[in-house]
Amino acid sequence: MSWASFISTLLFLLLVVGGTTPAVSQSSEASEPMCYDWGEASGGAVSVLEGEAGWLSCPLFSHPSVYNYTSTQSAGHNFFWYRVPKGHDLEQPIPYSWRISRDRDRLWLQPATANDSGQYICMLSNKSSCSKIAVRLTVLRPDEVVRDQDCEPPVAVAPTPTFIAFQMGGFLDCPHLKDARKMADGETKVTWSHKCYKDPLVSYRQQKGDRLQIHLMLGPYQGLYFCRVQYERTGRTLHFTRSINVSAVSPPFFQKLPSILHPGKDQVYAVRQNADVALVCTGLFPYLESSWEIWWTVDGKTLDKLDQHRFSKTNRQLEYAYGDRKEETVLLIQDFQAEDLHREYNCSVRNDRGFETRRAQLEEEVLLPSLELGCGLAVTLVLMLLLFVVYHVFWLELLLLYRSWFGTDERHTDDKEYDVYISYARNSEEEQFVLSTLRSVLENELGYSVCIFDRDSLPGGTITDETLGFVTRSRRLLVVVSPGYACRGSQALLELQAGIDSMALGGHLRVILVQYKPVQRQGWVRELRRARVALVLVRWQGDKSRELTSRFWKRLRVELPVRRVGSTRGGEEEKQLGLMRLHSQNSTNSQTGLISNTIKEPQKILNSAA
Ligand SMILES: *[C@@H]1O[C@H](CO)[C@@H](O)[C@H](O)[C@H]1NC(C)=O
Ligand SMILES: *[C@@H]1O[C@H](CO)[C@@H](O)[C@H](O)[C@H]1NC(C)=O
Ligand SMILES: *[C@@H]1O[C@H](CO)[C@@H](O)[C@H](O)[C@H]1NC(C)=O
Ligand SMILES: *[C@@H]1O[C@H](CO)[C@@H](O)[C@H](O)[C@H]1NC(C)=O
Ligand SMILES: *[C@@H]1O[C@H](CO)[C@@H](O)[C@H](O)[C@H]1NC(C)=O
Repeated sequence: MSWASFISTLLFLLLVVGGTTPAVSQSSEASEPMCYDWGEASGGAVSVLEGEAGWLSCPLFSHPSVYNYTSTQSAGHNFFWYRVPKGHDLEQPIPYSWRISRDRDRLWLQPATANDSGQYICMLSNKSSCSKIAVRLTVLRPDEVVRDQDCEPPVAVAPTPTFIAFQMGGFLDCPHLKDARKMADGETKVTWSHKCYKDPLVSYRQQKGDRLQIHLMLGPYQGLYFCRVQYERTGRTLHFTRSINVSAVSPPFFQKLPSILHPGKDQVYAVRQNADVALVCTGLFPYLESSWEIWWTVDGKTLDKLDQHRFSKTNRQLEYAYGDRKEETVLLIQDFQAEDLHREYNCSVRNDRGFETRRAQLEEEVLLPSLELGCGLAVTLVLMLLLFVVYHVFWLELLLLYRSWFGTDERHTDDKEYDVYISYARNSEEEQFVLSTLRSVLENELGYSVCIFDRDSLPGGTITDETLGFVTRSRRLLVVVSPGYACRGSQALLELQAGIDSMALGGHLRVILVQYKPVQRQGWVRELRRARVALVLVRWQGDKSRELTSRFWKRLRVELPVRRVGSTRGGEEEKQLGLMRLHSQNSTNSQTGLISNTIKEPQKILNSAA
């Protein structure tokens, strides 16, 4: 704040000193009284198009309450112009001619030429006092004027904004036409164009004398209108062009009262102590040719009357469409204090038609101590993550543990003879696996009763009946799938069909697939392919699966009936021993088998069983 004002003061001093020093020294030579120099007029340079008629007015008289041309003349003041042409340092008198003339305080250029550019100074003086002010003139070449479209005529003066309401009519008057009329010897002529059309007299628009009448305002009628004024003076033809920016606005029969959109009637602002608080207020101002205002009051006082450095505001426009505007003002309260909670904050809006005010309801935000909350949340998250990881890594173990505690021993609920019936393709690689590995681990290590048809069936019986009998007397049917498994007419197909039928009929039997080597699904028999969707498949993963603690055995145990620790033969201790045995076997004889009493030739068992 203070920096900005300091810098602007400095700039001002520099400008004043830089701008006035040479002028004062010269004027002290030129005229008797010290001349008060107003410097260069603040409005910026006056632009005139080369070849067009233009003029300079003395800025001293732009505030008639200070200087009034008529009254100064009658009071005997002298008034004159002089200039410092562009590229020159010295003041020069104005070379008055038919082209450059004076009318009251105005200096006319009819027309302007390129080397009229420069600084022009007008001076008002009597014997005892003197004032002067400078104004800059820029004569633009047509190609120096920025235009939206090439077909638009160049205009040196900024467009005059004009608003016409939708569904209503209006007149456009060419700016400065009156000035031309004063200088013209005869009639003035005005031609209008809009959007590059020379003749805008399409429906609803019409030139009436010098004016352009719009009978009914429509969206496409918006934009820049150009009027070219032409007149005669001392036998010469002069002209200038002006533009009008026509905008459509909402019609007057619409609601024009201002309204507060935010805060709503029952809206509550949550505030926190010792923090910065921003109260946002938005107001809607329908188009009106009048001023509008949006502001905050604190305890009925505006911010400048409040005199509290902690309170400030920022304003901005949110929306503008056809003259209707949505404005926002934000009241900023730094370091909100407990006593601020009890103040009355009102947002108000006003235009010529009305006024509205609304109180902002403030409520202190109750926050849990953020540190504790954060810690609690973090701990919970970490725990959840941990549980998630544990579950994903050890789900088999967890399942087995759960079963060993809560699972029911099926032996108590049914009268079946076997835990597992193993079905496999005879004379295959899998046969070796079934007899040497699967069977012995299930029987010797895990304590299941296993049924293998070739071993357990009695000679002389009907194969079909016996197979069906064995399968129905088993709790699980382990199907060791292999490429040639269950080909037409084989024992394995019979077993599979019996198992699937029994499962389908609710015979308390479940079929489990075991895959020794990867098998193409297409090679499976139809019964197997159909049933696969509903069945669990446990894969043997080579050497990795040899250990009893491997995934293969755990998965298998999950699928097999519950054998509680201690209820297996020998209990925990023996189990540990078995495991150790398995390990030592594994290390010495890893390829062919792992159990000491490996059965190498299946035919022998059949014989011995017989
Ligand atoms: C200037 O002064 C004259 C006479 O003193 C007065 O008639 C005229 O209204 C004044 N003009 C303005 C714009 O005040
Ligand atoms: C202004 O320019 C014209 C040519 O356009 C030239 O003849 C004339 O001398 C110039 N006047 C001054 C004062 O430089
Ligand atoms: C010169 O003008 C000033 C006001 O601008 C006035 O007060 C003063 O009396 C005038 N002096 C004479 C000699 O007319
Ligand atoms: C005309 O006025 C509108 C606002 O009413 C403005 O957005 C637009 O830029 C103006 N066009 C020109 C060429 O000045
Ligand atoms: C603040 O607004 C309420 C309506 O919400 C109004 O009753 C109250 O008079 C206003 N206070 C001031 C100081 O304008």
